[in-house]
Amino acid sequence: MAWIGFIAAMTDSNALKRAAGLRALDFIESGMKVGLGSGTTSEIFLELLGTRVRGGLKIIGVPTSERIARLATGYGIALSELDAAAPLDIDVDGADEADPDLNLIKGGGGALLREKIVATSSKRMLVIADGSKYVDRLGRFPLPVEVLAFGHGTTSARLAAAAATLGYPALAPVLRHKGDAVFKTDSGNVIYDCSFGAITDVPRLAATLSQIAGVVDHGLYVGIASLLIIARECGVEVIQGRK
Ligand code: A5P
Repeated sequence: MAWIGFIAAMTDSNALKRAAGLRALDFIESGMKVGLGSGTTSEIFLELLGTRVRGGLKIIGVPTSERIARLATGYGIALSELDAAAPLDIDVDGADEADPDLNLIKGGGGALLREKIVATSSKRMLVIADGSKYVDRLGRFPLPVEVLAFGHGTTSARLAAAAATLGYPALAPVLRHKGDAVFKTDSGNVIYDCSFGAITDVPRLAATLSQIAGVVDHGLYVGIASLLIIARECGVEVIQGRK
């Protein structure tokens, strides 16, 4: 019975992700250079985009992960390296959490670094998500922090110490694993998942984390998203950001 409930919930959330992805297609025009985000919501959008491309839409995609590159190629979407295509017209990506200021937590799938490079190389970043991702305050989802493999244990200790100075004394960064092995990003780095709880000052935390030697990047996106498309059972809402 519980298993049936789980499958029903999965199906519902996939339907909502699809509704958000469908709305995002309204923002894509022929001739555009499009950043292709990673994660399950982005993959649903990618499939929808592939259908449009096979119907004649002409776009160039820039993938944010090796997996998305493989899937996009399979859907017949033409791809480019970022350096050859930047600046991009639009980037479409998912999020693990989004707040009313359109600050985001990303990186649950491990692609936060390339995703942030592509997003900040785009004129607009469109975020697509189901309603469960929209929160008053970021931090329930553990913040992924991408760390250089060299000396990563020492970097994680420095992370915890920096967090303590900002009023998060109990931070215990958790090294991400995939099965028995340490998870490695597409760029060969490791990830520490950091459960801050409610994040009280997003820009300050983002700036502090960026200054730690050994931290390559973190999943906080501040002032990057332009538009948030949130799909709920009652309908799809488009929330405009400041950018
Ligand atoms: C990939 O690393 C992530 O940033 C994803 O974009 C984010 O985790 C959202 O993923 P889902 O759409 O799978 O929830």
